[in-house]
Amino acid sequence: MQRAILVIALTIKYLLLIGAQPSCEYTGEKKQRDVICTADKSDYVLTRGLVSDNNKTTRVTLRNCKIIDVEFEAFYQMPALEYLDLSQNQIKNLKLGVLDGFNRLKFLNLSYNELEGFPLGLFDQKPNLEVLDLKGNSIVTLELGVFDKMKKLKHIDLSNNALLGREMNPNIFNQSTHIHIIDFSRNDMSDSKDNLLEVFIELDFLNLDRCQLNEVPIFATKPNLKTMKHLMLSTNNIRVINDSKIFMNLENLEILNLSYNVIESIAADVFTPLKKLKMIKLMNNRLTQIPDTLFRNIPNLNNVDLSHNLIEFVPVNAFRSSPIKHLNLADNRFSYLTDNFCLELKNSGGVLAKFYFNQNPWQCACLRDILNEVKNFGIVYNDVKYTGDEPVCVTKPNGFNCMRQMNENNYFIDLYYN
Ligand SMILES: *[C@@H]1O[C@H](CO)[C@@H](O)[C@H](O)[C@H]1NC(C)=O
Ligand SMILES: *[C@@H]1O[C@H](CO)[C@@H](O)[C@H](O)[C@H]1NC(C)=O
Ligand SMILES: *[C@@H]1O[C@H](CO)[C@@H](O)[C@H](O)[C@H]1NC(C)=O
Ligand SMILES: *[C@@H]1O[C@H](CO)[C@@H](O)[C@H](O)[C@H]1NC(C)=O
Ligand SMILES: *[C@@H]1O[C@H](CO)[C@@H](O)[C@H](O)[C@H]1NC(C)=O
Repeated sequence: MQRAILVIALTIKYLLLIGAQPSCEYTGEKKQRDVICTADKSDYVLTRGLVSDNNKTTRVTLRNCKIIDVEFEAFYQMPALEYLDLSQNQIKNLKLGVLDGFNRLKFLNLSYNELEGFPLGLFDQKPNLEVLDLKGNSIVTLELGVFDKMKKLKHIDLSNNALLGREMNPNIFNQSTHIHIIDFSRNDMSDSKDNLLEVFIELDFLNLDRCQLNEVPIFATKPNLKTMKHLMLSTNNIRVINDSKIFMNLENLEILNLSYNVIESIAADVFTPLKKLKMIKLMNNRLTQIPDTLFRNIPNLNNVDLSHNLIEFVPVNAFRSSPIKHLNLADNRFSYLTDNFCLELKNSGGVLAKFYFNQNPWQCACLRDILNEVKNFGIVYNDVKYTGDEPVCVTKPNGFNCMRQMNENNYFIDLYYN
């Protein structure tokens, strides 16, 4: 009996699995322009007939359709196709020729498949491609020349693969000089060649988050990258930034993300050349002190995040002549700030609107001073912990004065953490 049930169950399962192709729905003008397919129960090899042979189709979405392979002619006779989404499938390789034809394609999403690389020539009939998303595959190497025909490429996402920057040939991008956005995050880009990105002339955004970098890479700061607006160097192992000229060329940079590194020291004038800088993220590092000039005189700098460091003293001078609007100093190790900190900032160009200073070993008297100041100026602060329910500061048995001396700091730090 049990055996019979098992057989029936297996038969039903088998029936469900067999011939299971995704079902596709056409929308748009005359219901032919836009095709969206959804998976059936089993793996599927994409063949001619599912979406092919349609002169009107411009968009095909085959996301998450359990596709394990793509056959020749799967996109036969689709001259109008501009948008193809094959993301979230299990494609391991794309045979040379399967993407031939449909040379109007502008957008190709192959993210979250199991691709390890591409045969040379795979993209040769894609001269109009602008966006190529390859994130979340297992790409180890890129054949020299594989991108060469995609001269209009603007955005390429290579994140979350198994690329080794040190083995990457800079000439791989020779013909794709108009790339605006490139994402290498979650690959090993340490020891990449200094000229890796040397052909780019319009780069806007470079993502090097989680790239196992031990220092600010030279290849990310070359003169041809002066168009760059956003540079992500977060979640790496950068310990020192001691070359004060390293960012010299990045005169248009607006956002610099150095968070989640292990930065202990930064050269005093390293950010000075960044005249367009608006935001700098330094949270979650190991800074114990800030040079007196670090953020000084940066005419557009309005957002500085120094939270989750080990800073024991915050020199107000470090921010002079910069229009600081949002300042985050939460979770550091200072017990006081300069007298009239906010007023000082205001008087030297700051326009403080939001100021976080919670989770520090505050002397109660100093905390009271700064709370008075932010309330006076109507500055938003993190008041979650300042409701009187939780201890947020420490005080010496004798007297209730704010002692603004570095040598007092350790006493309060010890008191606070014990
Ligand atoms: C698509 O266009 C081609 C060339 O104009 C024509 O030969 C073919 O029959 C058309 N196919 C369909 C399915 O309409
Ligand atoms: C590609 O597809 C993935 C997953 O389906 C999606 O998250 C991503 O935003 C798409 N890429 C682009 C550039 O639109
Ligand atoms: C790429 O450009 C460099 C310098 O212009 C040149 O030496 C090299 O031969 C080019 N490589 C390819 C594959 O086109
Ligand atoms: C900068 O730091 C690197 C790595 O810690 C070190 O090798 C180098 O000597 C330092 N250079 C200067 C000028 O301090
Ligand atoms: C900076 O990097 C962190 C860590 O990757 C990320 O969470 C944050 O959104 C980034 N912020 C900006 C403005 O790039």
